[in-house]
Amino acid sequence: MTGKPRVWISRPTFPDVEARLDPHFEVAAEPEEIVFSSTELAAKLAACDAAIVGLKERVGAAEIAGAANLRIVANLAVGYDNLDLAALTAAGILASNTADVLNESVADYTWALLLGAARRMGAAERWLRAGHWHGTEFKGWLGLDTRGRTLGILGMGRIGQAIARRAAGFGMQVIYHNRSTLPQAVEHECAARYVDKPALLAQSDFLVLALPLTAESRHAIGATELARMKPTAVLVNIARGGVVDDAALAAALAERRLAAAALDVFEGEPDVHPALCALDNVILSPHIASATWDTRRAMTAMAVDNVLALFGHGPHAGHPPSLLNPEVLAVRPAP
Ligand code: GLV
Repeated sequence: MTGKPRVWISRPTFPDVEARLDPHFEVAAEPEEIVFSSTELAAKLAACDAAIVGLKERVGAAEIAGAANLRIVANLAVGYDNLDLAALTAAGILASNTADVLNESVADYTWALLLGAARRMGAAERWLRAGHWHGTEFKGWLGLDTRGRTLGILGMGRIGQAIARRAAGFGMQVIYHNRSTLPQAVEHECAARYVDKPALLAQSDFLVLALPLTAESRHAIGATELARMKPTAVLVNIARGGVVDDAALAAALAERRLAAAALDVFEGEPDVHPALCALDNVILSPHIASATWDTRRAMTAMAVDNVLALFGHGPHAGHPPSLLNPEVLAVRPAP
């Protein structure tokens, strides 16, 4: 390698955080949010040694075909369904995510959505803004309480656990389903009890989805699962679009087979199923569960740390903190 290695940053982040790269790298940071075509993305990746990308960048075999110098793709997200990990690994390219730094912000936002859906905040606000409020009605805008109800969590990783820990404050009992049961100490700390998926669907008054999108989890909640839920239940998806069959959900909400939903993620983002947009018993938000100043800065810092560390710099020199395919280092050692 001659000269400094090159880092490409696919979207605006925080210049003061990115600046930590400057002494060691030639940095090319995109000045605005762009949706790159596969060809444009391939050209960007072919011209750098490290890339910091976001969820809009879908990186697979085609996009890395010409990226001979690329050593790492650092994802600005904890989920990494936008990366073809097998293709990256086969090409000797590391991938990293932003594990853990966003757990608490995402958990807070999950509760904002859950309570917002339970208390019909979105629809009530739209109604007020439209000038329909002519005095408080005793039986107007009645919603659902959380106290004494059951919170179900599908996907009990660190984010699911952070959501569960907050439930005690709302007087809820927590059940969860996960690929594996949690160690007893963690179950105890979260005051959560493992149940099988049919029981989770049948017993949850509020069901939160916090599992990654994989081939197995696609449509984990579809027509069959929705039919098993209580008609008084509320569904909250802060995981990924595609985990829910949005068309089936819209039908269940429209027919009041489910009381309400709150969705931060959608199949085919940024498109939202038109049937969902037409419903008043669903709160929709544009994939912002981790979007706080502190957390987005921490996510940027983590991506920067992964890149710095691979090239032998920064606080984790030699040990990128959140590699998804560390086995690559055995066949293609750090530069
Ligand atoms: C956001 O959705 C993330 O995966 O970080």
